[in-house]
Formats: sequence, structure tokens, C-alpha cells
Amino acid sequence: MSNQQAKILIFDSGVGGLSVYKEIHNKLPQLEYLYIFDNEAYPYGELDHDTLIARVDNLVTSLVEKYNIDLVVIACNTASTIVLPTLRAKLTIPVVGVVPAIKPASNLANKAVGLIATPATITRPYTHELIRDFSQSKPVELLGSTRLVDIAEEKLRGKSVDLDELKKILLPIENKIDVAVLGCTHFPLIKDEIQIVLSDRVLLVDSGEAIARRVEDLLRIEKEEREVGTREIFSTAPPWKEGALNKALNHLGFSSVQHYPIAI
Ligand code: DGL
Repeated sequence: MSNQQAKILIFDSGVGGLSVYKEIHNKLPQLEYLYIFDNEAYPYGELDHDTLIARVDNLVTSLVEKYNIDLVVIACNTASTIVLPTLRAKLTIPVVGVVPAIKPASNLANKAVGLIATPATITRPYTHELIRDFSQSKPVELLGSTRLVDIAEEKLRGKSVDLDELKKILLPIENKIDVAVLGCTHFPLIKDEIQIVLSDRVLLVDSGEAIARRVEDLLRIEKEEREVGTREIFSTAPPWKEGALNKALNHLGFSSVQHYPIAI
């Protein structure tokens, strides 16, 4: 593959995929990045199955064609647990998904694992298969929350996280676990705050670094090519607090949000 020009498309419902982008960009700053978030249908954690598949399929396949993309990352656990077979059947380029890091978490745990994810992810058969296959010996406590996703969206727009509110949300698993899986890509954006609330006794695990390694392997990038590539970002609806959001995005090296309405 002609490495310097490799174009990667990162997909999420909101800003969560930026946590995955950061990990990939750390390793591969020379790639050209396109990021799309389907905020018109946010939150994906409360969206019905068929609508979610249709939207991701439509957006990803149209962008891949329009921009000549080399690799797609579905940087959303909620989507990855159901859309990957459909996308892989349609596209000829690699499609990397993000699913909850149950296996490494279970290996690290002494007591029990907490899976913090969206309400949809904790009910998905895919998630329950992961638990059955990779955490036989450690119990997994499930916590599904859309409010946590909103808190990450707010933080990226400059609002500080209310630790008392966070504590109330995490209370059901707080004392039961010694490892927590951040099973939604929004949550690494509020990792520091989650760590404060759960204390140092709980180890936090996410999939970001593993995804970056997978992308690196698939693209077979030459290490010496370190020039920084372009970074563009699209949304399916005008984002709320667009000014504050653009500030954070510009800080990450993206140009301001461009609108990319869905055609269904
Ligand atoms: N960032 C997403 C995930 O990893 C979805 C958040 C949402 O829209 O509910 O699951």
C-alpha cells in the first residue's frame, strides 16, 4: 500500500471515536484522517438495531467510495457489536471494529470485572458471547448508561465533570470489581474522572491501543514516514455547542465540522 497517502475513516455516533483516533494518530500521524459522527441518530445506545445497521452501512459505504478510503474503523462498541458482518460483506477494504476488552480485563482481574457500556452494548448477544468465552472464571458486572456518554460529550465542549453525579452512576458496581472495561469509546475521554471515583483499587481497561496496533499491522506503515496528514471531520446534523466543539477539534488537529447529511 502507498503508505503516505493511506486514508482512514473513523466512525462513531459522537465524539467517542476521538479516543480511538488519538491512539491511532499517536502511532500513525502520517495517515490522512476522516472522522464522521452520526449525531443525528445519537445516542446509538438507545437506537433500534435495524436503524443502526442501515445508517452505518449507508454512511460508511458512501464515504468510502467518495473519498477513496483505505481502511475503516468503526470506533463505536454499540455499532461494532452488530454491523461488522454487513460492512465486511460489502467493502473490499479492511474494517476494524471496537468491542469491549473483556478478555484482557478478565485476565487482569482477581475479583470481578465491571463492564461499563451503553444500554445496548450490555444486552447484545455478541457481548454475552465475549463474556461466556473469555471470562468463565471471573464474574462480570454490567452497567449500561447513556448519561455517561452525554457527560463525555459535554466534557469535550468544555463542561467539567460533576464527580458526585459520576459517583451515583457508578455506585452499583463500585465495590464489587477490581477491573473495569470502558466498553464505550466515549469513556476514555472521562477516564481520569472515572478513575477518581472508582479509586486506584480499580484498574481501567479499554480497546484503543489494541485497535491502533491492528490498524498499524493492516496498513503495514513504514516507520520513518512521519509527516502529519490531513484531518477532516463530518457530522450528520449540526452539532450542539458547535463553537466549543470546534475549539476542541481544532486542538486535536482537525478542521472545523463539515455537514454530511445522510441520504436515506
Ligand atoms: N461511542 C459509542 C460506543 O462506543 C456509542 C455511544 C452512543 O451513541 O450511545 O458504544
